[in-house]
Amino acid sequence: MLSKTPPMGFNTWNTFGENINDRMIRETADAMAEKGLLAAGYKYLVIDDCWSERQRDPVTGKIVPDRIKFPNGMRAVSDYVHGKGLKFGMYSCAGTRTCANYPGSFDHEFLDAQTFAEYGADFLKYDFCNRPSTCNGPLLYKRISMALKASGREILLSACNWGSDEVQTWIRSVGAHMYRSTGDIFDNFVSYRDIFMSQIDKFPYSAPGCFNDIDMLTVGMYSKGNVSGDGQGCSDVEYKTEFALWCMFSVPLMLGCDLRAINDTTLKLVTNKNLIRIDQDEEGRPPFCCFKEHGGMSRIFVKVLSDNEFALLFLNLSDNRARSFLILEDMGIPVASGKGLQITDAFTGEDAGVIREYKEQWLEPHDCAVYLAKIV
Ligand code: GAL
Repeated sequence: MLSKTPPMGFNTWNTFGENINDRMIRETADAMAEKGLLAAGYKYLVIDDCWSERQRDPVTGKIVPDRIKFPNGMRAVSDYVHGKGLKFGMYSCAGTRTCANYPGSFDHEFLDAQTFAEYGADFLKYDFCNRPSTCNGPLLYKRISMALKASGREILLSACNWGSDEVQTWIRSVGAHMYRSTGDIFDNFVSYRDIFMSQIDKFPYSAPGCFNDIDMLTVGMYSKGNVSGDGQGCSDVEYKTEFALWCMFSVPLMLGCDLRAINDTTLKLVTNKNLIRIDQDEEGRPPFCCFKEHGGMSRIFVKVLSDNEFALLFLNLSDNRARSFLILEDMGIPVASGKGLQITDAFTGEDAGVIREYKEQWLEPHDCAVYLAKIV
């Protein structure tokens, strides 16, 4: 099964946009292997839009890799990536042209899937720009899904229709393994907060086999790169909260910062074993909410994990310092049971004691706390 747990990797779009090439892909592959990212689970290296020539080959009809960006062709890049123990990902689009106006796969789905298989691709992100009005969204994703299944290679399908057509209700049935549910992320707090909030009620559709993808992480970008938006970037506290949200809701962890230049704070955060364990829990359950105040900006979520464990997320998305209360009764542990919760700080790994009846937690603006918990 390709996506038993949320896929993890790196995608070029957030930082590099159209500035991709053979060399930076190889350097990124090196960084993923050498910096412990692959060992932490980040195995897909995905090349996003802007990798091909502007036109298909007039004779074969195939998409052709950009001769300047990828002078050795795509198979050579893929071989290098595989040589590092990583998996290789490509990008195309359901329309006639991609979002950045390169050839799309409409009416060439089977030929393109074959081409990606020839490259040795293990992953295909499939976008939704410039689609003809003659085909609806579900049919276009069925077509690429069938084409991939006919390609002779096992290729993960990462759908990217930004949540159109109530995607969460049908995308699993057509064979995709993850699905973008929102518009594009930008590297600032409001962007990821709004993306997250828009999906709170939709996460229950996400489960092993097909996960809700709320976009590539901006963690560690510090406003550098293609999706820097207003150039604000995020603070380390905000990146920590972004990562915690993705992990708590079993979202695919696709890194978007320049991994060749990743700093120690970011590396430590994205390789945190406890957070990754929460994201990758094989049961993939959606959390339930136990506390909601300040217009919904201050919340506590409880995620039931395998092995009789829980993850607790105390979240302050508001702009003020805020207090939240986890009342054990509200999560199904009445006082009369005589039970409490033994908790461990997920970020530091430190024992944080036993909760009896309730836990009060103060949080700075945009901050969060995450605990692993067991009933004792
Ligand atoms: C958007 C997509 C982005 C990126 C971009 C490339 O539609 O949401 O993640 O792939 O296209 O042009």
